[in-house]
Amino acid sequence: MKAIEIEKRAVQGPKLIDFLTGSGDFPAFHFYELMKGYGDIVKCGPYFYLINHPDIARDILNRDQKDFSQEDFVSKRVHTVFGYGMVTSKGKLWSSQRRLLNPVFSHKELHKDIDKVLDQINDSFSEWKILAKKGDVVDLSDLVGTLAIMTAGQLLFNFDFTKYVDSFKSIVKMGTYYMAEGLPFFLPLWIPSPNHLKLKKVNRDVDSILEKIINEMDCEQPNRDSMGCVLKNALGTKSSSSYDRRVMFDEMRTMLAGGYFPVSCSLSMIWYALGENPEYLDKMTREVRQKPVDYKFTADFYKDFPVTSACIFEAMRLYPIAFSIWRKAKIEFHTQGYTIPKNKSVCISLFNIHRHPEFWDDPEEFKPERFMDTQSRKRPKHHYVPFGWGNRKCIGDHYAIMIIFLTIIRTLQQFDLKIIHEPLKVRRAALICPKRVLANLKHIQK
Ligand code: HEM
Repeated sequence: MKAIEIEKRAVQGPKLIDFLTGSGDFPAFHFYELMKGYGDIVKCGPYFYLINHPDIARDILNRDQKDFSQEDFVSKRVHTVFGYGMVTSKGKLWSSQRRLLNPVFSHKELHKDIDKVLDQINDSFSEWKILAKKGDVVDLSDLVGTLAIMTAGQLLFNFDFTKYVDSFKSIVKMGTYYMAEGLPFFLPLWIPSPNHLKLKKVNRDVDSILEKIINEMDCEQPNRDSMGCVLKNALGTKSSSSYDRRVMFDEMRTMLAGGYFPVSCSLSMIWYALGENPEYLDKMTREVRQKPVDYKFTADFYKDFPVTSACIFEAMRLYPIAFSIWRKAKIEFHTQGYTIPKNKSVCISLFNIHRHPEFWDDPEEFKPERFMDTQSRKRPKHHYVPFGWGNRKCIGDHYAIMIIFLTIIRTLQQFDLKIIHEPLKVRRAALICPKRVLANLKHIQK
């Protein structure tokens, strides 16, 4: 049988000087302009290939994932921050970590704790109510940051994080700044630059906080183990090796950051998108308030909130906070007519995939209807990938979705919210995260 010939296509890209000067903009937005100029795959100087087409991304992340490694220049920085944690670990270590923690992060297990999440959200609202009463303009991104840290404490560590909130915020700020700053260049950590010295201090600080938490965590209770206890019981016993203990510390650091920062940034970006589109905030509020006061949240509560769900998913399409995934080709790789040279890094832009004009009508418009109608059911899954795709897909996806939905629904139930729309300014960080989202809050329920 004759093999189907795929037309060979050349990879185009900007001149080096244009690429380097353009990266002054936040990378996600700069990469979007590159997709508009050069199409599905873009050569970004000698550094990496930018991937914008969902089929190419699927080949790299899933079908041919064995042909790619995570040893690109971005993962070197991620590794400096998270050590042996699951985000950059590989081989047997990675599969044992995933096997150990997958059950804790399953939809079924997590939703057993739904009441615990609701209680924690209620606790966080005490501060929101005081601010609302004073009539101050609040920064929603800061408020949801605190809420995300506290819920991660309760749900993942079964531990009260109150006294660590400020430390965690500044630790993660430094870590994510380091991961994003100065790319595509990388200097080893032993070079004593001001940033490296700060990062080393942050690494020591987080270890000493984790040491206290691990010592105080009560893991002998008969009820369901938290993620922290699963790690402590597997890797932090008296007979554990120093290597196991290092893995435990790094994994806890990863989960701490994961439970806080991406959830907080997603919530902030969703509020931001609703500030841009207040008519949808009104529609969501109406839907939420139509539910009876004693509405019981169960594991499949999502289906009772179709408008709210569609708005949240659409905001996560328009602003996928984890805007890029990085890999490195182990071989000369052929995909969809293009060739990616051996040892070349690739940056899969989830931001661009979510705005690819071939698959999304009016890609820059906020249109939640895309997630309500039959279109949504027909859409191939790899066209919408806020949590990535393939075997390294986010382990915390069900956790994040549960916290995001419950926080938004509870907020709309209990507060009148007027989001003050401003041009988007993002933090210098590895994720898309607004510097602030201002709003007026009015508490409406006792
Ligand atoms: C809305 C919130 C979140 C988003 C958008 C997000 C996004 C992602 C994406 C795109 C990846 C794939 C990275 C890759 O393929 O290289 C990933 C991986 C990962 N995420 Fe998340 N994430 C979120 C929340 C969380 C939470 C809550 C946790 C943990 C508490 C978490 C822990 C992880 C870990 C450990 C990995 C690496 C998984 C592996 O390599 O096996 N994430 N995340």
